[in-house]
Amino acid sequence: LKQISAAEGDGGLATYDPGFVNTASTRSSVTFIDGDKGILEYRGYPIEQLAEQSNYLEVAYLLVNGKLPNKAEYEGWAHDVTYHTFVHENLKTFMQGFRYDAHPMGMLLASVGALSTFYPESRDIFDEESRALQIRRMIAKMPTLGAFAFRHAQGKPYVYPDNELSYAANFLSMLFKMSEPKYAADDRLVRALEILFILHADHEQNASTNAVRAIGSTQVDPYSAVTGGIAALYGPLHGGANEAVLKMLRRIGTVENVPSFIEGVKAGEERLMGFGHRVYKNYDPRAKIIKKAADDVFEVTGINPLLKIAVELEKIALEDEYFVSRKLYPNVDFYSGLIYEALQFPPEMFTVLFAIPRTSGWLAQWAESLGDSDQKIARPKQIYTGQRGVQYVPMGDR
Ligand code: ACO
Repeated sequence: LKQISAAEGDGGLATYDPGFVNTASTRSSVTFIDGDKGILEYRGYPIEQLAEQSNYLEVAYLLVNGKLPNKAEYEGWAHDVTYHTFVHENLKTFMQGFRYDAHPMGMLLASVGALSTFYPESRDIFDEESRALQIRRMIAKMPTLGAFAFRHAQGKPYVYPDNELSYAANFLSMLFKMSEPKYAADDRLVRALEILFILHADHEQNASTNAVRAIGSTQVDPYSAVTGGIAALYGPLHGGANEAVLKMLRRIGTVENVPSFIEGVKAGEERLMGFGHRVYKNYDPRAKIIKKAADDVFEVTGINPLLKIAVELEKIALEDEYFVSRKLYPNVDFYSGLIYEALQFPPEMFTVLFAIPRTSGWLAQWAESLGDSDQKIARPKQIYTGQRGVQYVPMGDR
């Protein structure tokens, strides 16, 4: 394409596609999305079946290895991941050095970056055994680091992993355990968290996965690449929508205010947060699943008063011509913030709760890209719009 030029020195033919809206950056066999039909599949398995019948660790195995494990494989995987949940004491000390009000997502991304220094062998990314070990390690340690960051903000001592518990139950224990010898979360809450983790495990070439792949294309270690993914997820346009939903619901305040709020949205004053999606133009399959999980959580925690406002918003919007004609439906974030709040998480933790399960997707895609002989260093072209050949003038003469 470089040979095809319209004018001398124009650099040849190039596509200009900021945000990669119409440009595939990679081939992938990890996750399939059909936005028009509302389909999401991991390695070909429909998300509905996985959310109903599987658990997060099994889904992580599926994403990373490309197939569902048999019983022995699952037990080996679960054992190996569990074995790696502890972090080095120096990493704990490192985290304790953050300011008392440090954002937990900032703590998480710095700590995952720091992990690369604890495992220097991870820089040998073409050693398959080491690569598999780093993947297990990172999936295992993310809940530990996320929980440490949460406890830090509360000024509470960090709680070590309890490896007799499942992945989600152990996470809840590290978050909420007080002085009791064993923390026992309600099974329905554990299951709801597992479902949320499954729903967030991967979503093809989203901004953070694209960041992981781009950084990974330099052949850096996986901890550094995933740190870049966490940074991308930290941004409000990616991981922050569910917090925006909660803020919106609080602002609306009562069910009676919903119709006038909807009129404001239709007049273009603001957006209905948690509605609409760049890819899903029919419905977001994750939203249906999450609504059911929300019901289960509220059965245990009691109804969040904001839920009534959310239900009314959804009811009105789904029947309103403005939303119907633009194909605007609830997305995964419409209910997830309400669930997290019911589980006692402050809004700053919401992106951490996204990063923990997304780690398996990031790593599956990172490993896939390493095995792709077409993958070059991610170095896009640009359309230069600046000056050329300007002569340097000494500072005193400017
Ligand atoms: N409320 C009101 N109107 C909306 C909304 C909304 N939430 N979303 C889109 N629209 C309208 C737009 O104003 C536009 O109307 P117009 O044709 O009259 O100008 C039309 O629908 C198309 O909107 P676009 O912005 O072109 O749609 P796009 O696909 O680019 O945007 C997005 C998708 C960013 C998610 C958008 O729907 C939005 O801002 N939603 C609210 C924020 C949100 O919930 N984000 C979370 C996404 S899920 C995730 O990231 C995990």
